[in-house]
Amino acid sequence: MQIVTKVAEMQDVCRKLRLNGRMLGFVPTMGALHAGHISLVRRARAECDVISASIFVNPLQFAPGEDLARYPRTFEEDCRLLEAENVDVLFAPDAAEMYPQGAVTTVSVAGVGDRLDGASRPGHFTGVATVVAKLFHVVSPQRAYFGQKDAAQLAVLRQMVRDLNFHVELVGCAIVRDPDGLALSSRNKYLSSMERARALTLHRALRQIEHMIASGERRTAQLIAGGMEILKTADEVRVDYLSIVNANTLLPVTSAEAGTLVAVAAYIGTTRLIDNLLVA
Ligand code: PAF
Repeated sequence: MQIVTKVAEMQDVCRKLRLNGRMLGFVPTMGALHAGHISLVRRARAECDVISASIFVNPLQFAPGEDLARYPRTFEEDCRLLEAENVDVLFAPDAAEMYPQGAVTTVSVAGVGDRLDGASRPGHFTGVATVVAKLFHVVSPQRAYFGQKDAAQLAVLRQMVRDLNFHVELVGCAIVRDPDGLALSSRNKYLSSMERARALTLHRALRQIEHMIASGERRTAQLIAGGMEILKTADEVRVDYLSIVNANTLLPVTSAEAGTLVAVAAYIGTTRLIDNLLVA
C-alpha cells in the first residue's frame, strides 16, 4: 500500500489509478479503525477496481472544547489493517497540508446541516462537508463509502453532492455492532467497562422502538416516549436527542414509515455516542 501525505502527489496517484476506465473507490476516515471501517473497505474492494482510503483527524469538525486533542490516533495499526485489506493508496495529510495558511473557504449545507448533530454541535457539519469536498477533489473517486451509523452525516453529504454536482456515488453501509449490540465507534475506546454497559441503553432504546413499530405503533410521539423510558433507566446517560425524522431532510415526521430514521445521541459520562435505525 502506497502512503501519500501531499495533495498534489495524491491527485497524481489517483489519476493514474483511474486510468483505463478503472473504478476508484474511496473510504474517508479519521483513523482509529475498527471493524466498521473495515466493512466499508471490504465493500469498496468488492465493488471497485482500485481503492483509496484517507486518515485525517479533521480539526474543522471539532468545536473548541470537544475531543480533538484526545481523539484516538493509532496510525501504525491502521496502516497494518488497510494493508491487509489490499488498499492501493492511503492519503494521510497533516492539517497544514489540508488547510494551508490563508485557506478561508468552507462548505455549509444549510438546513439539513443544522439538524440532529448539526444542532447539538454547531459548525460540525460545515467541518465535515468542507473536508469531504476537499478529499473528493483530491481523490476524484467514482464511489465513496460511509457508515450508516453517521446517518445525519450521510444526509448532509448526499445534499452536498447533489448541490455541488460532485461526480461521485455515495454508498451508505450497514452499522457494525459488537455481539451485545453496541454500535462500533472509535469513541467507544473512551468508555470504562461501567460506561460501556450504560452505553448499551442506546441500542436498547432503538430496539424498543423497533419492537413498538413491529407491534403496529407508528405515531412518533408514542415511539419517542417508549424509547425515552428505556434511556431514563440508565444512570449517567444524558440524552442529547432521540428523534424520528425523514432520512434525507432530517426533519421530524409524525408517523414512522419505511425508510424513516430513528436517531439517538447521548453522553455517557463525557463521551458522546450516536446510534440509529432505519424503519424497515
Ligand atoms: O465519519 C468520519 O470519520 C468523518 O466525519 C469523515 C467523513 C472522515 C470526515 O472527516
